[in-house]
Amino acid sequence: MRHDPANLPRHVAIIMDGNGRWAHQQGKPRIMGHQAGVSSVQAVVRCAGELNLDALTLYAFSTENWQRPGPEVEGLMGLLKTYLENQLEQLVQNRVRLRTCGRIDRLPNQVRRILENSIRETAGNDGLILNLALSYGGRDELVRATRQLAARVAAGELTPEQIDESTLAAGLDSAELPDPDLLIRTGGERRLSNFLLWQLSYSELYFTKTLWPDFGREQFLAALTDYQQRQRRFGRVNEPPADT
Ligand code: IPE
Ligand code: IPE
Ligand code: MG
Repeated sequence: MRHDPANLPRHVAIIMDGNGRWAHQQGKPRIMGHQAGVSSVQAVVRCAGELNLDALTLYAFSTENWQRPGPEVEGLMGLLKTYLENQLEQLVQNRVRLRTCGRIDRLPNQVRRILENSIRETAGNDGLILNLALSYGGRDELVRATRQLAARVAAGELTPEQIDESTLAAGLDSAELPDPDLLIRTGGERRLSNFLLWQLSYSELYFTKTLWPDFGREQFLAALTDYQQRQRRFGRVNEPPADT
């Protein structure tokens, strides 16, 4: 079955999991799995751009991932830096606009600088929005948004009664993006691991055992086709109203 170009999600979010296990299967160190995962990122970004999706959010590093062994964290930061350096031209050519969510302030200075440069260089692009979740945690994001609201209330700019879903959502990192229509998680686990807790309220969930380095264009299109079989009800009913 093929995907229907007229019924594509606007925003897809992906938990890119399974790099370590992929490396283990090959008898290689974990970092080689992360390295192999970069090709999957390239393939999926290209495909999302070609399909004219509005946004693609990739979970690249969680607030909890800081607790991994030092060399693995350093390896991941190095890969991120190399990816950004190598891909900038390609991103510009493909009209991709880069942005991030998460605690960018916690990233090593060098990585942050190159990230800020790539964001600046792609700011004028009108194609796919590539949103990298880096040092990101859904709970951390909600705490930061809540703090902002509390500060505004304390300053007398806002009353507690004025706080509603839209004021809270406006304080989230990805406020200008629509909520993801589809969440994909590779690697076989069926959990959110602190990803986009607010934004995924009504997203369709797609779990696949395929490990991230083995995920590419074909697997991405299969996820989109699966998404197109779903009936999204948002708590309502789909039947037409009765005659009487
Ligand atoms: C996902 O792959 C990449 C990151 C979390 C940075 P993992 O490193 O979690 O791979 P597994 O889950 O151990 O196989
Ligand atoms: C989720 O994967 C985070 C990213 C893909 C960046 P993890 O491998 O960190 O999640 P858990 O530990 O299996 O929940
Ligand atoms: Mg994992």
